[in-house]
Amino acid sequence: MIHRLLDDKRLGRAHSAAELQALIQGVLDGSVTRAQAAAWLAFVCCRGMTRDETVALTQAMTDSGDKLAWDGLSGPFIDKHSTGGVGDKVSLILAPVWVVMGMKVPMISGRGLGLTGGTLDKLEAIPGYNTRLQPEALRRQLEEVGCFICGQTDRLAPADRVIYALRDETGTVPSVPLITASILSKKLAEGIQRLVLDVKVGSGAFMKSEEDARALAESLAAVGRGAGLEVDVHLTDMSQPLGEAVGNALEVEESIRCLRGEGPADLHALVCQLSGDAARADAVLRSGAALPVFERMVAAQGGDLSVQLKGGGCEETVLRAERAGTVTRCDAEQLGLAAFVLGAGRVKASDDVHFGVGLRVHKKRGASVVVGEPLVTLVHDGSRGLDAARRHAFAAFEVSLG
Ligand code: URA
Repeated sequence: MIHRLLDDKRLGRAHSAAELQALIQGVLDGSVTRAQAAAWLAFVCCRGMTRDETVALTQAMTDSGDKLAWDGLSGPFIDKHSTGGVGDKVSLILAPVWVVMGMKVPMISGRGLGLTGGTLDKLEAIPGYNTRLQPEALRRQLEEVGCFICGQTDRLAPADRVIYALRDETGTVPSVPLITASILSKKLAEGIQRLVLDVKVGSGAFMKSEEDARALAESLAAVGRGAGLEVDVHLTDMSQPLGEAVGNALEVEESIRCLRGEGPADLHALVCQLSGDAARADAVLRSGAALPVFERMVAAQGGDLSVQLKGGGCEETVLRAERAGTVTRCDAEQLGLAAFVLGAGRVKASDDVHFGVGLRVHKKRGASVVVGEPLVTLVHDGSRGLDAARRHAFAAFEVSLG
Protein backbone atom coordinates (compact mmCIF):
# COMPACT_ATOMS: atom_id res chain seq x y z
CA MET A 1 0.00 0.00 0.00
CA ILE A 2 2.68 2.51 1.01
CA HIS A 3 4.51 2.24 -2.32
CA ARG A 4 1.35 3.11 -4.21
CA LEU A 5 0.67 6.05 -1.88
CA LEU A 6 4.23 7.28 -2.38
CA ASP A 7 3.81 7.00 -6.16
CA ASP A 8 0.48 8.83 -6.02
CA LYS A 9 1.79 11.71 -3.95
CA ARG A 10 5.01 11.99 -5.96
CA LEU A 11 2.85 12.38 -9.07
CA GLY A 12 0.49 14.83 -7.35
CA ARG A 13 -2.54 12.53 -7.14
CA ALA A 14 -4.92 12.90 -4.21
CA HIS A 15 -5.33 10.25 -1.49
CA SER A 16 -8.68 9.07 -0.20
CA ALA A 17 -9.67 9.49 3.45
CA ALA A 18 -9.28 5.73 4.00
CA GLU A 19 -5.75 5.81 2.54
CA LEU A 20 -4.78 8.66 4.84
CA GLN A 21 -6.20 6.83 7.88
CA ALA A 22 -4.14 3.75 6.93
CA LEU A 23 -1.01 5.81 6.34
CA ILE A 24 -1.22 7.54 9.71
CA GLN A 25 -1.92 4.23 11.43
CA GLY A 26 1.12 2.76 9.65
CA VAL A 27 3.35 5.66 10.76
CA LEU A 28 2.26 5.06 14.36
CA ASP A 29 2.60 1.27 14.39
CA GLY A 30 5.87 1.29 12.45
CA SER A 31 4.59 -0.59 9.39
CA VAL A 32 5.36 2.60 7.44
CA THR A 33 9.07 3.13 8.02
CA ARG A 34 10.56 6.47 9.02
CA ALA A 35 12.22 6.73 5.60
CA GLN A 36 8.90 6.11 3.83
CA ALA A 37 7.12 8.62 6.04
CA ALA A 38 9.87 11.19 5.41
CA ALA A 39 9.60 10.68 1.63
CA TRP A 40 5.82 11.07 1.80
CA LEU A 41 6.19 14.29 3.81
CA ALA A 42 8.60 15.65 1.22
CA PHE A 43 6.17 14.83 -1.61
CA VAL A 44 3.34 16.55 0.29
CA CYS A 45 5.58 19.57 0.77
CA CYS A 46 6.18 19.81 -2.99
CA ARG A 47 2.84 18.62 -4.38
CA GLY A 48 0.48 19.94 -1.71
CA MET A 49 -2.86 18.47 -0.68
CA THR A 50 -6.44 19.26 -1.55
CA ARG A 51 -8.75 20.65 1.14
CA ASP A 52 -10.54 17.30 1.35
CA GLU A 53 -7.25 15.49 1.85
CA THR A 54 -6.21 17.99 4.52
CA VAL A 55 -9.51 17.49 6.36
CA ALA A 56 -9.02 13.69 6.17
CA LEU A 57 -5.39 13.94 7.33
CA THR A 58 -6.44 16.15 10.25
CA GLN A 59 -9.18 13.73 11.21
CA ALA A 60 -6.82 10.74 10.96
CA MET A 61 -4.31 12.49 13.22
CA THR A 62 -7.02 13.39 15.74
CA ASP A 63 -8.32 9.81 15.66
CA SER A 64 -4.80 8.49 16.36
CA GLY A 65 -5.34 9.15 20.08
CA ASP A 66 -7.86 9.96 22.80
CA LYS A 67 -10.44 12.66 22.40
CA LEU A 68 -11.57 14.66 25.38
CA ALA A 69 -15.34 14.70 25.86
CA TRP A 70 -17.29 16.91 28.21
CA ASP A 71 -20.64 15.08 28.39
CA GLY A 72 -22.69 16.34 31.27
CA LEU A 73 -21.00 19.76 31.36
CA SER A 74 -22.65 22.76 29.77
CA GLY A 75 -20.70 24.62 27.10
CA PRO A 76 -20.07 26.25 24.79
CA PHE A 77 -16.51 24.91 24.70
CA ILE A 78 -14.07 27.25 23.05
CA ASP A 79 -10.32 27.61 22.54
CA LYS A 80 -7.95 29.72 20.54
CA HIS A 81 -4.72 29.05 18.74
CA SER A 82 -2.12 31.64 17.92
CA THR A 83 0.67 30.94 15.48
CA GLY A 84 2.85 32.70 18.04
CA GLY A 85 4.78 35.86 18.35
CA VAL A 86 6.92 38.08 20.52
CA GLY A 87 5.08 39.15 23.69
CA ASP A 88 1.96 37.13 22.82
CA LYS A 89 0.44 36.32 26.21
CA VAL A 90 -3.18 36.52 25.06
CA SER A 91 -4.12 32.98 26.17
CA LEU A 92 -3.48 33.80 29.84
CA ILE A 93 -5.97 36.65 29.64
CA LEU A 94 -8.53 35.43 27.13
CA ALA A 95 -9.25 32.08 28.85
CA PRO A 96 -10.55 33.68 32.09
CA VAL A 97 -12.31 36.46 30.13
CA TRP A 98 -14.24 33.80 28.18
CA VAL A 99 -15.18 32.07 31.44
CA VAL A 100 -16.74 35.32 32.71
CA MET A 101 -18.53 35.53 29.35
CA GLY A 102 -20.16 32.14 30.04
CA MET A 103 -17.90 29.78 28.11
CA LYS A 104 -15.73 26.82 29.06
CA VAL A 105 -12.14 26.80 27.91
CA PRO A 106 -10.25 23.50 27.75
CA MET A 107 -6.96 24.94 26.54
CA ILE A 108 -4.11 22.63 25.65
CA SER A 109 -1.00 24.62 24.91
CA GLY A 110 2.60 24.10 24.03
CA ARG A 111 6.05 25.13 25.08
CA GLY A 112 7.89 27.56 22.86
CA LEU A 113 10.53 26.61 20.35
CA GLY A 114 12.42 29.61 19.10
CA LEU A 115 12.64 33.19 20.22
CA THR A 116 10.54 33.21 23.39
CA GLY A 117 8.71 30.81 25.65
CA GLY A 118 5.25 29.43 24.88
CA THR A 119 2.14 29.71 27.04
CA LEU A 120 3.22 26.80 29.27
CA ASP A 121 6.66 28.32 29.85
CA LYS A 122 5.01 31.56 30.92
CA LEU A 123 2.64 29.81 33.34
CA GLU A 124 5.47 27.69 34.73
CA ALA A 125 7.09 30.92 35.91
CA ILE A 126 4.43 30.72 38.65
CA PRO A 127 5.87 28.53 41.43
CA GLY A 128 4.01 25.22 41.68
CA TYR A 129 2.00 25.59 38.44
CA ASN A 130 1.38 22.10 37.11
CA THR A 131 0.92 21.70 33.36
CA ARG A 132 0.39 17.92 33.44
CA LEU A 133 -3.16 17.21 34.50
CA GLN A 134 -4.94 13.85 34.64
CA PRO A 135 -8.21 13.52 32.68
CA GLU A 136 -10.32 13.55 35.90
CA ALA A 137 -8.61 16.76 37.02
CA LEU A 138 -9.32 18.37 33.65
CA ARG A 139 -13.03 17.66 33.94
CA ARG A 140 -13.21 18.76 37.59
CA GLN A 141 -11.39 21.99 36.83
CA LEU A 142 -13.56 22.76 33.82
CA GLU A 143 -16.62 22.27 35.99
CA GLU A 144 -15.37 24.19 39.02
CA VAL A 145 -13.26 26.96 37.44
CA GLY A 146 -14.41 26.99 33.81
CA CYS A 147 -10.97 26.77 32.22
CA PHE A 148 -7.62 25.05 32.33
CA ILE A 149 -4.37 25.65 30.50
CA CYS A 150 -2.21 22.56 30.44
CA GLY A 151 0.16 20.59 28.22
CA GLN A 152 -0.52 17.93 25.65
CA THR A 153 -0.70 14.40 27.01
CA ASP A 154 1.02 11.47 25.29
CA ARG A 155 -2.38 10.16 24.24
CA LEU A 156 -3.66 13.29 22.53
CA ALA A 157 -3.03 13.28 18.75
CA PRO A 158 0.10 11.05 19.12
CA ALA A 159 0.51 10.93 15.33
CA ASP A 160 1.25 14.65 15.38
CA ARG A 161 4.16 14.17 17.77
CA VAL A 162 5.75 11.52 15.55
CA ILE A 163 5.12 13.40 12.32
CA TYR A 164 6.18 16.76 13.71
CA ALA A 165 9.52 15.28 14.82
CA LEU A 166 10.05 13.85 11.32
CA ARG A 167 9.11 17.18 9.71
CA ASP A 168 11.53 18.98 11.95
CA GLU A 169 14.30 16.53 11.06
CA THR A 170 13.62 16.61 7.31
CA GLY A 171 12.92 20.32 6.76
CA THR A 172 9.29 19.66 5.85
CA VAL A 173 7.70 21.90 8.47
CA PRO A 174 6.74 24.74 6.08
CA SER A 175 3.83 23.10 4.28
CA VAL A 176 0.41 24.68 4.72
CA PRO A 177 -1.56 21.36 4.74
CA LEU A 178 0.89 19.77 7.20
CA ILE A 179 0.82 22.80 9.51
CA THR A 180 -2.98 22.88 9.28
CA ALA A 181 -3.36 19.21 10.17
CA SER A 182 -0.83 19.50 12.99
CA ILE A 183 -2.53 22.48 14.65
CA LEU A 184 -6.12 21.35 14.14
CA SER A 185 -5.67 17.68 15.07
CA LYS A 186 -4.69 18.75 18.59
CA LYS A 187 -7.53 21.26 18.85
CA LEU A 188 -10.14 18.79 17.61
CA ALA A 189 -9.04 16.35 20.33
CA GLU A 190 -9.97 18.93 23.01
CA GLY A 191 -13.69 18.39 22.53
CA ILE A 192 -14.37 22.03 21.60
CA GLN A 193 -17.07 23.46 19.34
CA ARG A 194 -15.56 26.85 18.60
CA LEU A 195 -12.01 27.78 17.69
CA VAL A 196 -10.55 31.25 17.36
CA LEU A 197 -7.40 31.42 15.26
CA ASP A 198 -4.94 34.25 15.57
CA VAL A 199 -2.59 34.04 12.61
CA LYS A 200 0.26 36.45 13.16
CA VAL A 201 1.95 38.26 10.33
CA GLY A 202 5.19 40.24 10.44
CA SER A 203 8.86 39.94 11.29
CA GLY A 204 8.28 38.25 14.67
CA ALA A 205 5.82 35.69 13.29
CA PHE A 206 6.14 32.21 11.81
CA MET A 207 4.58 33.61 8.62
CA LYS A 208 6.46 36.79 7.72
CA SER A 209 4.44 37.86 4.67
CA GLU A 210 0.76 38.69 4.52
CA GLU A 211 0.34 36.33 1.55
CA ASP A 212 1.71 33.34 3.49
CA ALA A 213 -0.26 34.22 6.63
CA ARG A 214 -3.45 34.55 4.59
CA ALA A 215 -2.89 31.17 2.92
CA LEU A 216 -2.45 29.50 6.32
CA ALA A 217 -5.46 31.34 7.77
CA GLU A 218 -7.67 30.25 4.88
CA SER A 219 -6.53 26.66 5.13
CA LEU A 220 -7.05 26.54 8.92
CA ALA A 221 -10.51 28.07 8.62
CA ALA A 222 -11.66 25.82 5.77
CA VAL A 223 -10.28 22.62 7.26
CA GLY A 224 -11.51 23.48 10.78
CA ARG A 225 -15.01 24.05 9.38
CA GLY A 226 -14.72 20.90 7.28
CA ALA A 227 -13.99 18.98 10.48
CA GLY A 228 -17.10 20.42 12.15
CA LEU A 229 -15.75 23.35 14.19
CA GLU A 230 -17.11 26.88 14.27
CA VAL A 231 -14.02 28.85 13.30
CA ASP A 232 -13.23 32.54 13.60
CA VAL A 233 -9.92 33.61 12.01
CA HIS A 234 -7.97 36.82 12.58
CA LEU A 235 -4.80 37.99 10.89
CA THR A 236 -2.99 40.22 13.38
CA ASP A 237 0.17 42.27 13.45
CA MET A 238 3.47 40.83 14.66
CA SER A 239 5.79 43.42 13.17
CA GLN A 240 6.32 44.79 16.70
CA PRO A 241 5.94 42.99 20.05
CA LEU A 242 2.49 42.63 21.57
CA GLY A 243 2.21 44.66 24.77
CA GLU A 244 5.33 45.86 26.56
CA ALA A 245 6.63 42.75 28.30
CA VAL A 246 8.62 40.01 26.56
CA GLY A 247 9.83 37.07 28.68
CA ASN A 248 8.12 34.43 30.76
CA ALA A 249 7.62 35.95 34.24
CA LEU A 250 7.42 39.47 32.82
CA GLU A 251 4.52 38.37 30.61
CA VAL A 252 2.67 36.78 33.54
CA GLU A 253 2.92 40.12 35.37
CA GLU A 254 1.65 42.00 32.33
CA SER A 255 -1.22 39.52 31.90
CA ILE A 256 -2.30 40.16 35.49
CA ARG A 257 -2.18 43.92 34.85
CA CYS A 258 -4.32 43.41 31.76
CA LEU A 259 -6.80 41.31 33.78
CA ARG A 260 -7.09 44.30 36.15
CA GLY A 261 -7.94 46.53 33.19
CA GLU A 262 -4.50 48.15 33.31
CA GLY A 263 -2.83 46.43 30.36
CA PRO A 264 -1.17 48.09 27.38
CA ALA A 265 -3.70 49.32 24.84
CA ASP A 266 -2.69 46.96 22.00
CA LEU A 267 -2.87 43.86 24.21
CA HIS A 268 -6.20 44.92 25.72
CA ALA A 269 -7.58 45.59 22.22
CA LEU A 270 -6.41 42.24 20.81
CA VAL A 271 -7.98 40.28 23.68
CA CYS A 272 -11.24 42.14 23.02
CA GLN A 273 -11.03 41.49 19.27
CA LEU A 274 -10.35 37.76 19.65
CA SER A 275 -13.07 37.31 22.31
CA GLY A 276 -15.78 37.60 19.64
CA ASP A 277 -17.66 40.25 21.64
CA ALA A 278 -15.30 43.19 21.99
CA ALA A 279 -17.64 45.43 23.99
CA ARG A 280 -18.34 42.72 26.54
CA ALA A 281 -14.67 41.68 26.86
CA ASP A 282 -13.69 45.32 27.31
CA ALA A 283 -16.18 45.63 30.18
CA VAL A 284 -14.93 42.35 31.71
CA LEU A 285 -11.31 43.53 31.59
CA ARG A 286 -12.08 47.00 32.96
CA SER A 287 -14.10 45.52 35.84
CA GLY A 288 -11.30 43.12 36.80
CA ALA A 289 -13.89 40.29 36.90
CA ALA A 290 -11.66 37.80 35.07
CA LEU A 291 -8.73 38.13 37.50
CA PRO A 292 -10.31 35.92 40.21
CA VAL A 293 -10.95 33.27 37.52
CA PHE A 294 -7.26 33.38 36.53
CA GLU A 295 -6.32 33.10 40.22
CA ARG A 296 -8.65 30.13 40.70
CA MET A 297 -7.23 28.40 37.62
CA VAL A 298 -3.66 28.90 38.85
CA ALA A 299 -4.54 27.67 42.35
CA ALA A 300 -6.39 24.62 40.96
CA GLN A 301 -3.23 23.74 39.00
CA GLY A 302 -1.05 24.07 42.11
CA GLY A 303 0.37 27.52 41.39
CA ASP A 304 1.08 30.07 44.10
CA LEU A 305 0.68 33.72 43.12
CA SER A 306 1.43 34.97 46.64
CA VAL A 307 5.17 34.35 46.23
CA GLN A 308 7.70 35.79 43.80
CA LEU A 309 7.61 34.44 40.26
CA LYS A 310 10.52 32.19 39.26
CA GLY A 311 13.67 33.73 37.87
CA GLY A 312 13.72 36.63 40.32
CA GLY A 313 16.84 38.61 41.14
CA CYS A 314 17.59 39.69 37.58
CA GLU A 315 19.42 42.90 36.75
CA GLU A 316 18.16 45.64 34.47
CA THR A 317 19.97 47.59 31.76
CA VAL A 318 18.14 50.47 30.12
CA LEU A 319 18.81 51.34 26.46
CA ARG A 320 18.08 54.98 25.69
CA ALA A 321 17.28 56.95 22.55
CA GLU A 322 20.33 58.52 20.94
CA ARG A 323 18.27 60.93 18.87
CA ALA A 324 14.93 62.67 19.20
CA GLY A 325 12.01 61.98 16.91
CA THR A 326 9.29 59.44 16.26
CA VAL A 327 9.77 55.68 16.54
CA THR A 328 9.14 54.31 13.05
CA ARG A 329 10.29 50.74 13.72
CA CYS A 330 10.22 48.58 16.85
CA ASP A 331 11.03 45.28 15.23
CA ALA A 332 9.51 42.16 16.76
CA GLU A 333 12.13 39.79 15.38
CA GLN A 334 15.12 41.76 16.66
CA LEU A 335 13.49 42.22 20.06
CA GLY A 336 12.59 38.53 20.12
CA LEU A 337 16.24 37.72 19.38
CA ALA A 338 17.30 40.02 22.22
CA ALA A 339 15.03 38.12 24.62
CA PHE A 340 16.27 34.82 23.19
CA VAL A 341 19.98 35.52 23.70
CA LEU A 342 19.19 36.54 27.28
CA GLY A 343 17.73 33.03 27.76
CA ALA A 344 13.94 33.53 27.46
CA GLY A 345 13.51 30.96 24.67
CA ARG A 346 14.89 27.58 23.65
CA VAL A 347 16.20 25.81 20.54
CA LYS A 348 15.41 22.19 21.44
CA ALA A 349 12.41 20.90 23.37
CA SER A 350 14.79 19.61 26.07
CA ASP A 351 16.39 23.04 26.72
CA ASP A 352 15.43 25.02 29.83
CA VAL A 353 14.13 28.56 29.60
CA HIS A 354 15.14 31.27 32.05
CA PHE A 355 11.91 32.47 33.65
CA GLY A 356 13.07 35.90 34.77
CA VAL A 357 14.88 37.39 31.79
CA GLY A 358 13.36 39.40 28.97
CA LEU A 359 12.48 42.93 27.96
CA ARG A 360 10.26 45.83 28.86
CA VAL A 361 9.57 47.77 25.69
CA HIS A 362 8.90 51.41 26.53
CA LYS A 363 8.49 52.92 23.07
CA LYS A 364 6.61 51.39 20.19
CA ARG A 365 5.85 52.56 16.68
CA GLY A 366 4.43 56.07 16.55
CA ALA A 367 5.77 57.14 19.97
CA SER A 368 7.82 60.34 20.25
CA VAL A 369 11.12 60.24 22.04
CA VAL A 370 13.65 62.75 23.27
CA VAL A 371 17.37 62.05 23.55
CA GLY A 372 18.10 59.89 26.60
CA GLU A 373 14.58 58.54 27.01
CA PRO A 374 14.34 54.77 27.68
CA LEU A 375 13.48 52.71 24.60
CA VAL A 376 13.73 49.28 26.17
CA THR A 377 14.93 47.72 29.42
CA LEU A 378 16.88 44.47 29.17
CA VAL A 379 16.14 42.20 32.14
CA HIS A 380 19.10 39.82 32.41
CA ASP A 381 21.00 37.54 34.71
CA GLY A 382 24.09 39.75 34.83
CA SER A 383 26.05 38.31 31.95
CA ARG A 384 24.39 35.81 29.61
CA GLY A 385 23.87 37.31 26.17
CA LEU A 386 23.89 40.91 27.35
CA ASP A 387 26.12 42.32 24.60
CA ALA A 388 24.27 40.47 21.83
CA ALA A 389 20.91 41.47 23.34
CA ARG A 390 22.01 45.09 23.37
CA ARG A 391 22.93 44.85 19.66
CA HIS A 392 19.64 43.21 18.70
CA ALA A 393 17.60 45.65 20.76
CA PHE A 394 19.32 48.70 19.23
CA ALA A 395 18.89 47.22 15.74
CA ALA A 396 15.14 46.87 16.43
CA PHE A 397 14.55 50.60 16.70
CA GLU A 398 14.43 53.27 14.07
CA VAL A 399 13.78 56.83 15.18
CA SER A 400 13.02 59.36 12.47
CA LEU A 401 13.28 63.09 12.85
CA GLY A 402 10.04 65.00 13.21
N1 URA B 1 2.46 24.53 15.40
C1 URA B 1 2.05 23.25 15.37
O1 URA B 1 1.45 22.76 16.31
N2 URA B 1 2.33 22.52 14.28
C2 URA B 1 2.98 23.02 13.20
O2 URA B 1 3.18 22.31 12.25
C3 URA B 1 3.41 24.36 13.24
C4 URA B 1 3.12 25.11 14.36
